Amino acid sequence: MDTVDTRATLGDPSKCGHVTLIDHATGKQYDLPVLQGSEGPKVIDVQRLYRDTGYFTYDPGYTSTGSCDSQITFLDGEKGILRHRGYAIEDLAEHSDYLEVCHLLLYGELPNAGQKAEFEHDITYHTMLHEQLQYFYRGFRRDAHPMAVMVGVVGALSAFYPDSTDFHDVQKRRLATHQLIAKMPTIAAMAYKYSVGQPFVYPRNDLSYAGNFLHMTFSVPSEDYKISPALVRAMDRIFILHADHEQNASTSTVRMASSSGANPFACIAAGIASLWGPAHGGANQAVLTMLQEIGTKDHIPEFIKRAKDKNDPFRLMGFGHRVYKNYDPRATILRTSTHEVLEEVGIKDEPLLDLAMELEKIALEDEYFVERKLFPNVDFYSGITLKAFGFPTSMFTPIFALGRTAGWVSQWKEMIKDPQQKIDRPRQLYTGHQARPYVHLDQRL
Ligand code: CMC
Repeated sequence: MDTVDTRATLGDPSKCGHVTLIDHATGKQYDLPVLQGSEGPKVIDVQRLYRDTGYFTYDPGYTSTGSCDSQITFLDGEKGILRHRGYAIEDLAEHSDYLEVCHLLLYGELPNAGQKAEFEHDITYHTMLHEQLQYFYRGFRRDAHPMAVMVGVVGALSAFYPDSTDFHDVQKRRLATHQLIAKMPTIAAMAYKYSVGQPFVYPRNDLSYAGNFLHMTFSVPSEDYKISPALVRAMDRIFILHADHEQNASTSTVRMASSSGANPFACIAAGIASLWGPAHGGANQAVLTMLQEIGTKDHIPEFIKRAKDKNDPFRLMGFGHRVYKNYDPRATILRTSTHEVLEEVGIKDEPLLDLAMELEKIALEDEYFVERKLFPNVDFYSGITLKAFGFPTSMFTPIFALGRTAGWVSQWKEMIKDPQQKIDRPRQLYTGHQARPYVHLDQRL
């Protein structure tokens, strides 16, 4: 399967002219090549900038910087478009399933029936964890955040699979990607079980990927556990919607950590750590906390006012995005899905959903949010859906991590195979002291 490589057929970015940089201090001119991908804005290639001109670019937060070329995910933030390998997220969410999407991201194509059966078999074969890993869980406090547990346990896998560091071996690379996709639901479910003091539940390979995750999370050995196919489907859709999102903070973290040649499990642990923050994946937990804090609709204006106040650190969680300047297409799908899940679990009235919809309406009519093009993002509705499943808020971000694993491993694999790959090493604009003489302790003020 690893031989499927769309890079060869799709080709490299094409050169399409140049821009001229004029250094007014010296009067020198430099031509910088302009590149065009298959879609999206043109890109100025500055790889030779320092060598040719002696200048670096300065771009904190990488707001105008492309770190790599990639063939996995396309995002047009102005139009609210998200596609994986050319397929619209709306189509994937409606017609596909998570493991198919994993195959698509990893290997470039949706699997045919034979490939699908083989891939599903390969993944389910790796769902169990080494029994010794249970002791890692038991070393954590019961009230540890499951993301803390996941960073630790996924990082620990690098000690259990040290061979995976030899990732230039195609078989070992493939094994590591499959192990990560397969084990993440087990790891997340065990983090939950540990936090509530229930026995760990082993994976069941006769269940679907999402069905097995729900089983490991919510079943107990003393009772039969049954879940409706509609809820399994909704869980699977949540995984699809989180599967990849091009060069976001956690994916870039995985790429950067891996660029030194580090063990893939340790690098994915670094991605999980990055995802945890409230500006990224941690926002789904923060949205629910915020809605609970707002409490009732009459408090919305007060919180909108706070979100607009530059002296108040409060932000409307689940709103705004670095790339989307339009409705996040994942939020649109999730909003519909939320209603379906609530109906399926028999919740007729969810005050938090009413509150969220009212908050969205008010914010979208407010000049501050309109001017800055701040729209609901994927995290705005996911928490309400996950709450309806029965997940505690602390599990929301681990579920994001579970879904995003497909993207992390696919982007990691793409990076490893990129002939241009080199260690990531940004430069800096130094603003500290210039050279000064050492001050001996007895002379310091
Ligand atoms: N509430 C209030 N004001 C906001 C918000 C918000 N949620 N988001 C952005 N702004 C304002 C910001 O203050 C700034 O205003 P001004 O131009 O007057 O200084 C302007 O909008 C641009 O914001 P920015 O901080 O420069 O934008 P960014 O691209 O650096 O940040 C973001 C993007 C997602 C971190 C930010 O919108 C945010 O903090 N949102 C809330 C957290 C959140 O929902 N995160 C999930 C992101 S999507 C899923 C994921 O990536 O995991």
